[in-house]
Amino acid sequence: MFAGKVAIITGGGSGIGEASAKELAREGASVVVADYNEQDGQRVAEEIKAAGQQALFVKVDVSKEEDVQQMVQRTVEEFDGVHILFANAGIGDITPAAELSLDKWNQLIGINLTGVFLCCKHVIPEMQKAGGGSIINNASILGHVGQPGVTSYTAAKAGVVNLSRTLALDYAKDNIRVNSVCPGYIETPLLKDLDEKARNFLVSRHPIGRLGRPEEIAKAVKFLASDDASFVTGASLLVDGGYTAQ
Ligand SMILES: NC(=O)c1ccc[n+]([C@@H]2O[C@H](COP(=O)([O-])OP(=O)(O)OC[C@H]3O[C@@H](n4cnc5c(N)ncnc54)[C@H](O)[C@@H]3O)[C@@H](O)[C@H]2O)c1
Repeated sequence: MFAGKVAIITGGGSGIGEASAKELAREGASVVVADYNEQDGQRVAEEIKAAGQQALFVKVDVSKEEDVQQMVQRTVEEFDGVHILFANAGIGDITPAAELSLDKWNQLIGINLTGVFLCCKHVIPEMQKAGGGSIINNASILGHVGQPGVTSYTAAKAGVVNLSRTLALDYAKDNIRVNSVCPGYIETPLLKDLDEKARNFLVSRHPIGRLGRPEEIAKAVKFLASDDASFVTGASLLVDGGYTAQ
C-alpha cells in the first residue's frame, strides 16, 4: 500500500504512535519513529527493522522548532523525501483553569498544539516537492466535546481539529490532504495513572462497552494516509466507540 512512501510518526515510541508506525511499516512505508523518549523510540525502530521493514529513530521535542527542522532534514537525508506525517506526540493534564499555572498551560499547548503546527510547517515544503502527501494530526474526542478539569488539553485538541481544516484548504492545490483523527479513550501508557473507579467511568461512557486499542486508531491512520482516502481532506475522523454520538 505504501511502497516507496516515507512516513514520519511523532510520538512513535509508545501507544497510538507505536501501533501506527508498525502498521504503516507493515504496508511498505519507510518509517521515521520520532520521539522525545530515546529508549522507546529506538526500541520501536529496532522492532520494525527486525520484522524486515525500514525504520529510523530520530530524537525530537516537537515543541522546539530546531528539533522539528532537524527531524525533517534527517528524514530527507535518509529516505529522500516525506509523503506521510502522523503528528501524534502529546501529553495529558487534568487541572481546572483557576488552579492551572501559565507554565503548565504553555507546556501542554507547546507540545500538543504548537508541536503539530511546527511538524506541519516543516513537512509541507517537502510534500510540495514530492507532488503531494497526507497529513494526519492526532486530536481527540476532547477536540469536539469538553471534559471537566481538562483545560489545556481540550483547548489544544480543538485547536488541532480546526488547524487541520485550514491547512486542508491552503494546501489542497498542492495535492496535500490534511485530516485529524479523534480517538476516544485508548488503552495506552497515557492512561496509566487512572484508578479503577475512573477507568470504569470512562468505559461506561463508550457505548461499545470498552476502551479502544491503539491498533484501532492505527487502522484509521492507515486509511487517511492511503489513496483509499483520496477525496478525504479537512475531515475530523472520530474513532471513539460511540462516545460523542450521545
Ligand atoms: N490514549 C488516549 O486515550 C488518547 C485519546 C485521544 C487522543 N490521544 C492522543 O494520542 C496521542 C498519543 O497518545 P498515547 O495515548 O499513545 O500516549 P503515549 O504516552 O503512549 O505516547 C505519547 C508519545 O509521545 C511522546 N512525546 C511526548 N512529548 C513529546 C515531545 N515533546 N516531543 C516528542 N515526543 C513526545 C512520548 O515520549 C510518547 O512516546 C496524543 O496526542 C494523545 O493526546 C490519546
